[in-house]
Amino acid sequence: MSAPQAIAAVKGFRDVLPDESRRWRALEEAAERTFTRYGFGEIRLPVVERTELFARSLGETTDIVEKEMYSFADRDTTGLTLRPEATAGVVRAYLENGLVQSDPTARLFYRGPMFRRERPQRGRYRQFYQIGAEVLGRDDPLADAELLVMLERYLAAVGARAARLELNSVGDRVCRPVYRERLREFGRAHLAGLCPDCHRRVERNPLRMLDCKVESCREIMTRAPVAADSLCDGCRAHLAQVRALLEQERVAYVMNPRLVRGLDYYCRTAFEVVASGLGAQNAVGGGGRYDGLVAALGGPDVPGVGFALGLERLAMAAPGTEAEAAGPAAVILPLEAGAIGPALALATRLRDGGLAIGLEPAGRSLKALLRAADRRRARLAAILGEEELRAGRATVRDLVRHQDRRQVLPLDASGPELARLLQAMIGGGE
Ligand code: HAM
Repeated sequence: MSAPQAIAAVKGFRDVLPDESRRWRALEEAAERTFTRYGFGEIRLPVVERTELFARSLGETTDIVEKEMYSFADRDTTGLTLRPEATAGVVRAYLENGLVQSDPTARLFYRGPMFRRERPQRGRYRQFYQIGAEVLGRDDPLADAELLVMLERYLAAVGARAARLELNSVGDRVCRPVYRERLREFGRAHLAGLCPDCHRRVERNPLRMLDCKVESCREIMTRAPVAADSLCDGCRAHLAQVRALLEQERVAYVMNPRLVRGLDYYCRTAFEVVASGLGAQNAVGGGGRYDGLVAALGGPDVPGVGFALGLERLAMAAPGTEAEAAGPAAVILPLEAGAIGPALALATRLRDGGLAIGLEPAGRSLKALLRAADRRRARLAAILGEEELRAGRATVRDLVRHQDRRQVLPLDASGPELARLLQAMIGGGE
């Protein structure tokens, strides 16, 4: 019988190993700390929603809805979709759970996997993770500005210093139709140079021409009219106040009049966080205002504003410090079979004392064991050989500094006492 073949993960789906997930956890914990200070509570949403939720909210003619959703029929024929983003789900939950009455200005944050069938490349996956925040029930510029202050503070807290905030207004239900018409006229005049998709977009949804990925279309669209020139007085005033508040709080941003987002629900404020050094997929996050979305999903006319950050890209822009990647405080190295029991006893007591401790199997040379301890990036090695067992003390070596200095740990000490002694050895090595 031939050996069974290994099974690979699905294209665009990847594993997050401990070194990376440790960083992710730090990013998530920092988000929770920061967002909580701004009054946000966490919402945990389902990964699967009815397909029509996304078709109705993201826009029928967006790339996501047209070609990137993982949609399937459930056994009872209900059309289901793996969520490509979470704003639609937040709004559904806000309505379905009655927050619209009980907590109309709800502030919700979330984290978790999203799914889009895009072409995989560095920084772009078919399952990726987001951290996001949504403010419902507020249409005043203060809500936008406060959210952007929080976003900036969060990015600074996690060390994403090269990230730049780009801001624009995409207009509202009053002035967007005017802009749409101007774009349509521009598209018709440049039809010959546009791709087949954009030919359709000209009539169906000319705004989508602005984020076409085809090079020739992108070149043409650099000359297209910008939303900023069509804004109504209400949108102008809103943008001016958001900007004034950001400037008051010294939040750095650049105006990008060509910024459009890939989803149809945006109105007025739209923004992106862009980081240099990430290659083509340089948008670490994005968001904006979506005042018509709650109504479009069957609720009252409630406004909203929010953002989402891509965790993979955020981790690239803010890789963290060496200290986070530190290994265990110590690794216990039993040299012979007789040391197995005492080694486990020592490890258990130190772990009970609150320390991260590694434990190697017995039966190898001291040299091999020390190499193993090094691989684990341990700070100390506690050696248990024949001599140590006789004396009732483990020999401790500092693997980082003072490699020749030996210290000892009495095996009969209590857990807290052992932890204290070990900690002193780490501190004393400074
Ligand atoms: P989005 O711009 O589609 O917005 O996605 C936000 C972020 O998710 C992107 O900036 C990027 O970092 C990350 N992202 C998107 N697609 C991928 C992918 N295929 N692979 C890796 N990362 C990806 C939204 O999703 C909106 N729901 C944001 C929002 C919240 N607007 C208002 N509230």
